Amino acid sequence: MYLCLCQGITDSDVREAGRDGITMPCQLKAKFRLKQRGCCGRCSKNIEEFVQIATSAQQELPLNSVRS
Ligand code: FES
Repeated sequence: MYLCLCQGITDSDVREAGRDGITMPCQLKAKFRLKQRGCCGRCSKNIEEFVQIATSAQQELPLNSVRS
């Protein structure tokens, strides 16, 4: 499912970011360059959806997993 049409960001992309520990709104906005020049900024109004997806992906990781 696309979360950002301007940049083609999918829920899978956001889940991967969550597994890498990127779950805060400011982190997600920076990683995916939301509201950058040429983008509509519509998806950044729904940043809580990004946060929810990233956070649940992070919580699905086993407790002792380490990504490098
Ligand atoms: S939908 Fe994400 S910047 Fe336009």
